[in-house]
Amino acid sequence: MEQSKPILPALPANPYRPGAGHAPPFLAGRETQLRRFEALLGQEPILKNLLLPGLRGVGKTVLLEPLRELARSHGWIWVGSEMSEAACISEEAMYIRLLADICMATSSLTIDYPTLQVGFTRSASTQQISLDMEGLKALYQSFPGLVSDKLTGVLRIACKALIAAGAKGVVFAYDEAQNLSERADDRQYPTSLLLDVFQRLQRENIPALLVLTGLPTLSARLVEARTYSERMFTSEPLSKLTEPQTRDAILRPLYLVGNPMAFSVESVELIIKQSDGYPYFVQFICREVYDAFAQRRISGQQLSVPMAEIIHRLDADFYSGRWSMLTDRQRDLLRLIASLESSDEEFTILQIEEAATKAGLKSRDKSTINKTLRSLTDRGLVYKDRHGKYCLAVPMLSGFIRRQAES
Ligand SMILES: Nc1ncnc2c1ncn2[C@@H]1O[C@H](COP(=O)(O)OP(=O)(O)OP(=O)(O)O)[C@@H](O)[C@H]1O
Ligand SMILES: [Mg+2]
Repeated sequence: MEQSKPILPALPANPYRPGAGHAPPFLAGRETQLRRFEALLGQEPILKNLLLPGLRGVGKTVLLEPLRELARSHGWIWVGSEMSEAACISEEAMYIRLLADICMATSSLTIDYPTLQVGFTRSASTQQISLDMEGLKALYQSFPGLVSDKLTGVLRIACKALIAAGAKGVVFAYDEAQNLSERADDRQYPTSLLLDVFQRLQRENIPALLVLTGLPTLSARLVEARTYSERMFTSEPLSKLTEPQTRDAILRPLYLVGNPMAFSVESVELIIKQSDGYPYFVQFICREVYDAFAQRRISGQQLSVPMAEIIHRLDADFYSGRWSMLTDRQRDLLRLIASLESSDEEFTILQIEEAATKAGLKSRDKSTINKTLRSLTDRGLVYKDRHGKYCLAVPMLSGFIRRQAES
């Protein structure tokens, strides 16, 4: 007689969250950054701001949420947003960005401000100004001088009003800050503006703290704009997770949903190896494994990890979009880079040139390579590190390129 299959209890929803800025079920291994940020909140006056550089998908955006919680628990106001390319196009765009952000915190506040007379002589009388966008813009216009003088003036007033209302200070946090750039051709220096204004506020002992996250090009961009930025920031790079941290990122989400389906020791080891500790890959692979196990559990199959299929899907999901945006020249150069032994670490133009000669690509001279590398840097795929060498900004990209070549 045919035996009926046991009815299995329904599984909890898949807990893993591969995505862009989707909070992970368990945030693994970022204690150092959280502790460092907490220490920075205790500064009086503020001498150092926080820089969080990291590769694509390493967890820059999701770290901002616990940082925000930490800031709030210490009585600080948190404002900020994404530093979009549009915000970095001009000094005007930058000051509007900053006013719009602080306005989120100040719009319900009003201050008594000396009435301004024609010719900028202040009268003895005061008027009430609401610190909404309109009020902030009016204040901005009332300050004489350059954009940086005006912006410093209005942010000084806004921060002081928030402190008078009980705040300890204000954190200005910006994601994707690698977009910060100068436009010398248009005589627009939005990055210098940002740095100048915060330096001035901090020198006046106003507790306004800057937190910037972005690709590793970020530090160089800031130094290019203002050499003193090196002293203005403390950098806490976000790296891939260590082995125990990766294990936590894999297993803790399962425990959080009651460990409905244990991943075997071998499965966990395989996920650690394949993800190489990169948070996005951990979430992606685990989500796929959870779904695959759920399926196989119903059909009674053995619970083994279909890694080849998962990698295939990861390629389509994470890499293909970026790859399809590239020109043939950019792809050729990336293929050469992927053929280098040190492609996942640092590489030089000379190494690429040698690889080109070896591959018989004589047209790839230093200046062509340099130009293409610059275009890849603008696309956020490559960056120059502190030693002046180049690195790939997308984790394990060379593996994808090699897989493409093989298929
Ligand atoms: N510490 C962590 N532990 C576990 N999962 C994490 C961790 N950090 C990030 N993740 C997961 O990794 C993925 C990528 O995170 P996030 O979007 O913050 O990366 P990012 O560095 O901002 O990437 P990008 O440069 O593309 O903007 C998300 O799915 C997130 O849930
Ligand atoms: Mg991000």
